[in-house]
Parts: sequence; C-alpha cells; structure tokens
Amino acid sequence: MAEPTAAEPQSKAYFQKERRKYTPEEETKLERQHFWRIIDAFRFYRFHVQEQVKRAERQFHSLSQRHKRLLPGVISNLDRVRRCAEHNQEVLDAIVHNGLHMFENVEYGEREDPRKARTSSTFDMDKLKSTIKQFVRDWSEAGQPERDSCYKPIIQEIQRLFPSDQYDVSKVSVLVPGAGLGRLAWEIARLGYACQGNEWSFFMLFSSNFVLNRCEEENALTLYPWIHQFSNNKKSSDQTRPIRFPDVNPQSLPLNTDFSMVAGDFMEVYSESECWDCVATCFFIDTANNVLEYVDTIWNILKPGGVWINLGPLLYHFENIANELSIELSYEDIRTAMIKYGFLIEVEKESMQTTYTENECSMLRYVYDCVFFVARKPSELQFNGQEDEHQHNSPPAAKSSRREGSNRLT
Ligand SMILES: C[S@@+](CC[C@H](N)C(=O)[O-])C[C@H]1O[C@@H](n2cnc3c(N)ncnc32)[C@H](O)[C@@H]1O
Repeated sequence: MAEPTAAEPQSKAYFQKERRKYTPEEETKLERQHFWRIIDAFRFYRFHVQEQVKRAERQFHSLSQRHKRLLPGVISNLDRVRRCAEHNQEVLDAIVHNGLHMFENVEYGEREDPRKARTSSTFDMDKLKSTIKQFVRDWSEAGQPERDSCYKPIIQEIQRLFPSDQYDVSKVSVLVPGAGLGRLAWEIARLGYACQGNEWSFFMLFSSNFVLNRCEEENALTLYPWIHQFSNNKKSSDQTRPIRFPDVNPQSLPLNTDFSMVAGDFMEVYSESECWDCVATCFFIDTANNVLEYVDTIWNILKPGGVWINLGPLLYHFENIANELSIELSYEDIRTAMIKYGFLIEVEKESMQTTYTENECSMLRYVYDCVFFVARKPSELQFNGQEDEHQHNSPPAAKSSRREGSNRLT
C-alpha cells in the first residue's frame, strides 16, 4: 500500500494536470467553441428525438403480426411524439434566435464552418432535455407545487429576516447563484428586493433570457417536456401532454425593480467582499467540485450580519466524472466546517421533502429529503468563530455598489 504522505502530492499533480490554466486567447477560443456547441445542441434536438422515435418504430415492427395487432395505438403515439418534438424544436429555435446576441459585451462571432452538419453528444442532449423540464419547474402552473416546496421556504425566510415594514427592501441585496431559469430570483425581485441571479450554463442562460425578456403573454407558449420518457408511462397520452408557459408575465415587474441575471462561474464573478445582504442557494451547493470553495465565496461576499439561506440535497454533480475533482461531503461535515468559518446557524431543518422537475404522471418519482438552513455571518467577526450575542438582529449595512458581471445579460 502506498504511503499516505506520498499519495497526497501525487493526487494533487493529477488534478493540476487536468485542470491547467489557459491563456486568455485559449480561454476566448474555448468559450466560443462552447457557445457554438450549445447552439448546435439546440438545433440538433429534432434529429435526436427522431432517432429515438425511429428506433421505437423499428422495435415495434420487429414484433410478430399477432403481437402488432394487439397494440393498435403504438404507432399513432410515436407519430404524436414526433410532432411534439417538431413543436419543441420551434420553441428551441426561438430561444437560439434570441440567444445569439444576448450578451451586452461579448460577441461569439460566426461559427468557424457554418455548413458543417453537427451532431451533439448524448450528454448535451440530456442537458437540453433537462432544460426543457426546467420550464415546468420554473414557469408553468404545473410547477407550482414544486416551487412551493423549494422556493417558498427561502422567500418566507427573506421576508422574515428583512420585513418590508422595517427595511427599505429595495436596498436589501439578494444573490441567487445557480439561478436556473430565474424564477426564484424573479420572485424575490417581485417582492421589491434588489435581486440578482447568476448562472453558468448556456442552456439555462439562453432559456432564461428568452422567457424573461421575450415572453409576455401568460401561457402563450407550449412545450412537451415528457416526450423523451418512454418508460414508466401509465397512459400513452401522458408522454405527449403539453405544458404551457409562462404562467405569469415575466415582464410584469414594476419599472424600478432592481433585477438582473449575470452569466459566469459564481466563484469567478463574485470576488468583491461584503456586498450582499443575503445569498440564497437552492439545489446549488452540490454543483461544486469542492463545496468549501462555495462556502469561501459566500462567506467573503456576505456583508457582516448578512445571511446565507440554503435548501437542497447533496447530489454531487462531479461524482464519478472522470478527471474532475469531487469532494463529496456529508451535510454533517459541511455544517462543522461552516461553524468553524464563524457562521451562526439560526434556522435548520434536516428533512424538507421536495421534488425536482417532477413528472407527476410518471410511475417513477424521486423525492429529495433536503436540508434547509439560515446561516448568519456575524456582524462582528471573532477569531474563534464564537457567537457574538449582539449580532442577531442587526440591520443590513448600506448596500455597496454592485459588481457588474462581464457577461451581464440584456
Ligand atoms: C440543480 S440546478 C438548480 C437551479 C435552480 N436553483 C433551481 O432550484 O431550479 C443547479 C444550477 O446551478 C448552475 N451552476 C452550476 N455550477 C455553477 C457555477 N459555478 N456558477 C453558476 N451557476 C452554476 C447549473 O448550471 C444549474 O443551472
């Protein structure tokens, strides 16, 4: 067995090799390639689903005549799936159309060879299908129960901690990292708080840009989010049932609302200390390679007396991904570390049952048994992280000027 002391430098070298720093030119090129790869994925969707449908048709036609006669509805259902995919593609095309020039200060130029037909990976197709399901969670009436279980507890805590009869809520700054399609951040802004969502994935960014900036009429658009699910359907029609979005007009925020979405890696965009009164994370902290780096950032950017509200599971996104650092801590470990940082845990619930982009008609449904907490950065920091008895009810310090992310969305 290798000496433990020898193993450590070896594994460090392993991850350093894989996670090398790029020059700014290389970064720009990679970013541009990534941008176009995601655009290609949006455009490839139709072909991907058609392939799935063709495969299902081939399987069906391989059955005996006797078996086929017993199943009169299968081919017509597959036809419906195909038509629903065509419709989804129209929405995806509209999202891409609006995404091409959505960044104020970054242009991704033209694709190197626009004529080349591009296929997309299963990985990207899975991401795209998850993004389609995220419309249900964030912007459909069907997603209301899920939003009630995930977003409501966070919003209620914000309102309890910063009540509008005691605070000028327009000066209470709330950051939502990993904002997805932006509904939580939008709801917080709707209540008058100065709220910024931050998101890293182009899949999410293109889609949130579309829904937040281009959709006005309630329930005017349709998606078929469940057509990709060929298993666990009780009725064939469950697979092709539509959802309408947006359930509210995203542009109905009052004119003076301070609401924005900023693109980029949370840890890179937010490096300015003591800017935020509240950081609200929902299903986010397990997206880190090392969750303690998120805790570092949150600790740094919170104003003294500011609060971190978190709800979510610990389904570590990098677990089992080759060549990626993935530190999979238990909640107990994270909690211990947070207390060592100096966080004061004011509210804690270890069993909040929620779902995530749930298909309510499916025969397979997952429930997350989430942790929920409110942790305060003390207003007067002490070296040993012990509680300062006077800090609990301190008002947020005056809002400092907002760092403008380099990829701020229009
Ligand atoms: C599981 S989703 C949760 C989305 C949303 N908060 C919700 O509850 O529906 C996690 C989100 O975090 C985003 N994300 C992951 N790593 C990120 C990072 N380093 N910076 C910003 N966003 C990130 C992902 O793209 C994804 O949209």
